Amino acid sequence: MTLSRRTLCAGTGLLLAGTLGLAGCGSSDEPEPAPTPAAAPPAATRQFKPGAAGVGDEYFPTYGNGGYDVSRYTVKVRYDPAEDQLSGTTTVQAAATGDLSAFNLDLAGLTVRSVTVDGAPAKHGRKGDELVVTPARGLIAGNGFVVEVAYEGKPEPLRNEVIGSGGFLHTDEGAIALGQPESASTWFPVNDHPSDKATYDFEITVPKGLTAVSNGVPAGKSTTGDWTTWKWAERSPMASYLSTLVIGRFRITEGEHKGRPVFHAVTTDLPEGAADRSIAGTVRVADYLESVFGPYPFGAYGGVVISDARIRYALETQSRPVYSAGFFSGGENTGVVAHELAHQWFGNSVSLAKWQDIWLNEGLATYAEWLWAEHDGGRSAQQEFDARYAGSPGQVWRTPPGEPGVANLFSESVYQRGGMTVHALRVSVGDKAFFEILRTWAAQKRDANATTAEFVALAERVSGQQLDDLFEAWLYGTQRPDRPERRR
Ligand code: TRP
Ligand code: ZN
Repeated sequence: MTLSRRTLCAGTGLLLAGTLGLAGCGSSDEPEPAPTPAAAPPAATRQFKPGAAGVGDEYFPTYGNGGYDVSRYTVKVRYDPAEDQLSGTTTVQAAATGDLSAFNLDLAGLTVRSVTVDGAPAKHGRKGDELVVTPARGLIAGNGFVVEVAYEGKPEPLRNEVIGSGGFLHTDEGAIALGQPESASTWFPVNDHPSDKATYDFEITVPKGLTAVSNGVPAGKSTTGDWTTWKWAERSPMASYLSTLVIGRFRITEGEHKGRPVFHAVTTDLPEGAADRSIAGTVRVADYLESVFGPYPFGAYGGVVISDARIRYALETQSRPVYSAGFFSGGENTGVVAHELAHQWFGNSVSLAKWQDIWLNEGLATYAEWLWAEHDGGRSAQQEFDARYAGSPGQVWRTPPGEPGVANLFSESVYQRGGMTVHALRVSVGDKAFFEILRTWAAQKRDANATTAEFVALAERVSGQQLDDLFEAWLYGTQRPDRPERRR
């Protein structure tokens, strides 16, 4: 989904490490130039070409695909945990961005039964985790098209040696599909890169008695015979790695907050207790973050607590983060809730254009934990900074969070030094400019994609200060930067 020229531009990756302070695609309040109408060549002279097998992410060259832009997915699947079998259809509404003779979707494993494009049968083949679709006729740049893929099989997670596996896992009683930086292609065909955000409708059919939770607004459930279909609708653009599916036995809490549905699910493997209380804190934490970052960006609230031993993380899955039960084994923990909820603004509403910029997600989410801790009567953000500035291991200072490399994508540098970078900005520009930068960032890039260069440009514009050296040292330096000082 491309909301503006700016979104497209952000995806081209203009920032080279070290070239800071450039406006990249132009600062956001520049008027958008009117598109130049190109005379459409007649079909006979068009050069129809296959779309690329990746969007060109420097860190993950095969992620996503070229030649089209998805606006909406409709994922209708049935999962039978007893057989570990998934079957269904996914409909992809997209627009061609070039004249296409063929295009790819990302799909890992599973067997494709049929593909249609605009209702007509299309040829399809597999190349590793790519589904290659050749429509009966070429697709013309700018035109919308609809792909329907029918598929089935035993879903398997993606095995990533460097950063851990992601995707569909069969659990004792159901399944869990989640993972960053990729996971969606293990259960539906997708343009699997955050630069192509889209809205989603999910219809998940599971044996009666099990719960199937996904993203967004609960859109009803119905039971026919021994099967129940759970419907979910994510009406805000979502990056594919933020999609999730959790099937199992859960304690469900439903409610409403500020006119939006609240849907929490805690695994019945846990006795009612700290996990339930922590998740119940979601709306309280969201209201606090809203007072700092501006309006909560999505149409629903919620959280899911799971107990599978293979997942020891939380993930900011859109509007409904998934938490490993381990976070609550020591009692109530709203710190992790603050982290995952902060991602709803930073990471989910304002999304990465390229994975190298991961610190924009994790640095801001870590900083939100510090803000929440201070608000909640704990240590101040300054104390959190000081402790890490004094006590971080050498690895944190040697690894540049703005250019961490694939192996360090989720390293302490990205999280902790990322958070310290945010605090260094705050100290340098003062509270007034700092909080205006965060709110403006969330507002101007809402539902869009953004880059580090754009963040730096905004920080300079709002503060009226030249911040190259600050970001250069904190994001790209390989030793501990000087303590930040207020600039005038
Ligand atoms: N982004 C998650 C967080 O900060 C952590 C994470 C990284 C993760 N990779 C993951 C979670 C893979 C689940 C799966 O909260
Ligand atoms: Zn995070």
